[in-house]
Amino acid sequence: MREAVIVEVVRTPIGKGKAGGALSGWHPTDLLAETLSALVERAGIDPGEVDDVITGCVSQAGQQAFNVGRNAVLAAGFPESVPATTIDRQCGSSQQSLHFAAQGIMAGAYDVAIASGVEVMSRVPMGSSSMGQNPLGERMRDRYSEGMVNQGIGAELIAANWDISRDDVDAFSAESHARAQAATEDGRYSSEIHPTAVDRGEGTNGETIDRDEGIRPGTSVDSLANLKPAFYNEKTAARFPEINWVVTAGGASQISDGASAVLVMERSKAEKLGLTPRARVHAFAVAGSDPIFMLTGVIPATAQVLERAGMSIDDIDAFEVNEAFAPVVLAWQKETGADLAKVNINGGAIANGHPLGASGSKLTSTLMNVLDQVDGRWGLQTMCEGGGMANATIFERLT
Ligand SMILES: CC(C)(COP(=O)(O)OP(=O)(O)OC[C@H]1O[C@@H](n2cnc3c(N)ncnc32)[C@H](O)[C@@H]1OP(=O)(O)O)[C@@H](O)C(=O)NCCC(=O)NCCS
Repeated sequence: MREAVIVEVVRTPIGKGKAGGALSGWHPTDLLAETLSALVERAGIDPGEVDDVITGCVSQAGQQAFNVGRNAVLAAGFPESVPATTIDRQCGSSQQSLHFAAQGIMAGAYDVAIASGVEVMSRVPMGSSSMGQNPLGERMRDRYSEGMVNQGIGAELIAANWDISRDDVDAFSAESHARAQAATEDGRYSSEIHPTAVDRGEGTNGETIDRDEGIRPGTSVDSLANLKPAFYNEKTAARFPEINWVVTAGGASQISDGASAVLVMERSKAEKLGLTPRARVHAFAVAGSDPIFMLTGVIPATAQVLERAGMSIDDIDAFEVNEAFAPVVLAWQKETGADLAKVNINGGAIANGHPLGASGSKLTSTLMNVLDQVDGRWGLQTMCEGGGMANATIFERLT
């Protein structure tokens, strides 16, 4: 039986996705190209060995249009014979890239593939790919006649439904910053981060950044207490009187810039190339869920992936659950019973940031390192996605 193994991971540091952010001067194609080059260089492989590059990117417009994955392959100087495609599974796009890469390897369609992702939100803002038009046709509007809501409202509905308070949200967010800061200080991110030239929009000057820019040391429940609800509006409050408005900028993932990549191979191919596989991709799931709550898919996706693997939540040594918003992870925890001490051990997107299309392979990169750090065998990654979906993956560490 063919097995898909992870041989190498790399990501950029995550920059603030605003004008003046550390990576905001990078064109997305170049930022991804930088990451792809770093990946093959770290692995020491000939890029001509790569059968396909599958790239996650959510806002495929403007500088991220026209198959940013293919443009980055060419910008990286890979042979023209290496193809690429760009896919959109919303926030889980590059986790889906990993699924497609690993599934292609297991099916015999590839021997070597790269799963990657990019999103430079400072240049291609979230939502810009709709070009100001309504992507919902008449039939979808008929089906959801009361109207769709944005992801922040989805997070508020989750908080209301799972009885998650403002204190719960703030405590979770403070913990994410504390963990990310500790991981940074202890060098627990250093093996996954490719130090990247700083470009704040005025060109480079020899300075590089090797840590995530959004982490706020000293974040506490007290320092978060003064922040106002980020998504409150009167009309929505009237429609959903159950909402307690607990989500602030501190309890939400940050708008960010970044790129990430994972090298996946058929196990015997990796061995033939003299490479040591870090982990085996053990099981996959992808689930759909209520698109109004939008962000609860991580609950059925986790149940499905555990069932496919014949495992229970207690078998997992480390989890990466994307911190789109604090209530997403807290509701997932209430449903799965997972031990929060094993979840996002090095912090998450609330502290590090969430460069949408890049976050899936960022979480995979982090999970590989976390499994080494805790000397664990089994890792589970799951991410909620716009439209009401989620991917879930179980990895077995091999080193
Ligand atoms: C929530 C959101 C709208 C906030 O955007 P923003 O207002 O540009 O965010 P900022 O970083 O400027 O933070 C807003 C304020 O909160 C403060 N703040 C944020 N995090 C904080 C923290 N950890 N501690 C203390 N203050 C904090 C900022 O200092 C800022 O204060 P100021 O207005 O006095 O300068 C934005 O981050 C967002 O949309 N996040 C979700 C992204 C998303 O949907 N991704 C997809 C997931 S499904």
